[in-house]
Amino acid sequence: MGMSVTISVATEQDVEQIFRLQYLCFQSEAALYGNYRIDPLVQTLDSVRAEVASDCVYVARLGDEVVGSVRGRIAEDGAAAIGKLCVHPRLQGHGIGARLLRAAESALAEERGAKTFRLFTGHRSESNLRLYRRVGYETVGTSKGGDDGVPMIILEKPAGTYATTA
Ligand SMILES: CC(C)(COP(=O)(O)OP(=O)(O)OC[C@H]1O[C@@H](n2cnc3c(N)ncnc32)[C@H](O)[C@@H]1OP(=O)(O)O)[C@@H](O)C(=O)NCCC(=O)NCCS
Repeated sequence: MGMSVTISVATEQDVEQIFRLQYLCFQSEAALYGNYRIDPLVQTLDSVRAEVASDCVYVARLGDEVVGSVRGRIAEDGAAAIGKLCVHPRLQGHGIGARLLRAAESALAEERGAKTFRLFTGHRSESNLRLYRRVGYETVGTSKGGDDGVPMIILEKPAGTYATTA
């Protein structure tokens, strides 16, 4: 990749940029489902701030600009729930999403003892499903979704399974 996009742990200073970026990135998902109440679009700035303080949150940076983000945390059953993966529309398709995912997985396994990673994606989000399957996730079930009612596909993979592709 010609651009030097770096992946690092998100800090308090990144909160507003993450908030704005996810609002921009998830417009395409909202349009796909005709639903603008999906979680990443209705999350408050304070809620993003709380996640940055407590969860494993990574950002992709191009200079001073946050161009990608992902969060992960240990869920009640001990699996690591990874979510809100997003990359700025103009920079998608260069492997940044896969790099963010790998950073979150490594931190969750090494720092928080995750044995399994879990992801949700909308049932019609084909490119997301392709990305997740390519890096080793398999469908384990479906869910009716939360308040937004969008049917979700649940994918998991055991920790220690790493993608071989860039
Ligand atoms: C999902 C999302 C984070 C992926 O980010 P990304 O940076 O585009 O992801 P990647 O570049 O790693 O992979 C995307 C595609 O680019 C391809 N790609 C990766 N590196 C590449 C490279 N160097 N050259 C050409 N293509 C490349 C991948 O093979 C993949 O192709 P596919 O769609 O045919 O499977 C991004 O599309 C996004 O923000 N979407 C909106 C929000 C969303 O739906 N998030 C997921 C919620 S579950």
